[in-house]
Amino acid sequence: MAFLNSKSLIVCSILIVLCAVLYKKRSADLLQEKLGRVLHGLLRAEKKVGVERNTRIALGFGGCEDIFANVQEVLEKLDYTVPDDPAHVKDITSASDFVRIFTYFFGEGAAAERYVENATLFAEVAAAARDVPSARLALGGNAPAMARRLAIEGAEILLAARFTEQTRKQLPESIRVLGKPLDVDELHLVLEYSAGSKWGNYTASRANRFIIHSDKSNPFLDTLEDLEMELPSFDPSVLVVGGLQMMDNFPFKEGYREERLKKLNELLIKTDRSTKTHFELASFSDATLMKEIVDSVVYQCDSLGMNEQELPNLVSILTSGEIALISDSRPRIATVLDQMRTVFNLLKDTDESNGKRKLTRLHVHTLAYQAILTKKGSDWKNTMSAAAKASLTANRHVCGSNYIDTEKAKLLMDESFSTSTSEDSADRIPLEEQRPVSCWSEDEFDICLAPVLVCTEVLQTGGGGDNISSAGLLYQI
Ligand SMILES: *[C@@H]1O[C@H](CO)[C@@H](O)[C@H](O)[C@H]1NC(C)=O
Ligand SMILES: *[C@@H]1O[C@H](CO)[C@@H](O)[C@H](O)[C@H]1NC(C)=O
Ligand SMILES: *[C@@H]1O[C@H](CO)[C@@H](O)[C@H](O)[C@H]1NC(C)=O
Repeated sequence: MAFLNSKSLIVCSILIVLCAVLYKKRSADLLQEKLGRVLHGLLRAEKKVGVERNTRIALGFGGCEDIFANVQEVLEKLDYTVPDDPAHVKDITSASDFVRIFTYFFGEGAAAERYVENATLFAEVAAAARDVPSARLALGGNAPAMARRLAIEGAEILLAARFTEQTRKQLPESIRVLGKPLDVDELHLVLEYSAGSKWGNYTASRANRFIIHSDKSNPFLDTLEDLEMELPSFDPSVLVVGGLQMMDNFPFKEGYREERLKKLNELLIKTDRSTKTHFELASFSDATLMKEIVDSVVYQCDSLGMNEQELPNLVSILTSGEIALISDSRPRIATVLDQMRTVFNLLKDTDESNGKRKLTRLHVHTLAYQAILTKKGSDWKNTMSAAAKASLTANRHVCGSNYIDTEKAKLLMDESFSTSTSEDSADRIPLEEQRPVSCWSEDEFDICLAPVLVCTEVLQTGGGGDNISSAGLLYQI
């Protein structure tokens, strides 16, 4: 110990700290290099495909104005407190119902979209949402979000949705809007939170949003008849149906909901085979409604799009007729792939009578990756590029910028993944940084999975699924 005097101790400590700093910097550099390689690979896959100028796509339903706001700011402004008994409330009639159902979903980090019956309450929350520092206004609704994305990508669009004249002007001119103008826009409140944010003793496991609306026009699919009239002459490559969640828990007059869905079903039956049909799922809580939608829409579609929470809900409805309100917010890839197989197997052999169609495409978008399954021999093209496109769109949408900055991105996918939870049929597939989209074949379908460069500086989560789904779809027609 004699020569370990205080001077050499200081030198030693400095060396150790220096090494730690250098090591940290080195691993940050390595991570950036890795993200750079993944980004480069995705961009290369995206560039392989161009969009034909005259691609025509028709979309319905529902339009609205979105107010995006940080939910904690809104709750604070309203002076709402954490409830003792969070629960899934069927009808949101009071402030206490609102905080109970919000807390229920927040605690699970699950996205949800719900109707609020009490107009006074809705106006109160809306006023607060408009007024907080994080508030942002945007043109919203599933179909308009997809329409705008597709128009930006160069497609010709027919959109069945109603807005005020004023709001209509915000849409690109290349979009043809059907439906009588409204006097007042429908309003949706997109209450967002980031991963790890707190509400009382609850912590959000991931970034997400709780959406509420008090719509008067959207639940009726008002523009259905307009679309029916225009569709034959527009003759699109794809008809996209979305926004049906606006019917969830809406107090319809006896039998009227069934009547509107029947009308939609008839439209799908009449739609020419040369037009592919795609249904974009959303969050549903009413099992009867969801079963009606399965019978009148899902069976009539060639293609389905959904997120990792909506997928188990669909599996549950198809297999047991029950709703699965909440599921794992970060499911294993193997689990999601198994659920995709289940959906495909249940819908691939649909008897093509009375306008029903066999399912040939399934796109599942998650925070961490994009998975697109297409039936072998079907008309869907470029699955690999479509998965890459969807993945890049996810980052661009959430970060709010077309340029992707790897300093503001992270990968949530592991180095490799298993293709199934069942041991004997599972393969392990490595994530190759140079060629990040993994594609493989199974008996009856091809599937591609692309990692998402998850945006770490979240600008918006709401509307992401629509944006992402439409980008993928466009590359496949
Ligand atoms: C939060 O606190 C409430 C009441 O104190 C309790 O009932 C609930 O289980 C707690 N939740 C969590 C996630 O700890
Ligand atoms: C509707 O909401 C308002 C404002 O929160 C509340 O004062 C009123 O009691 C609610 N109505 C019902 C029927 O709960
Ligand atoms: C879709 O993403 C683009 C950015 O890529 C964004 O400008 C647009 O607002 C997004 N749509 C919605 C409804 O948020």
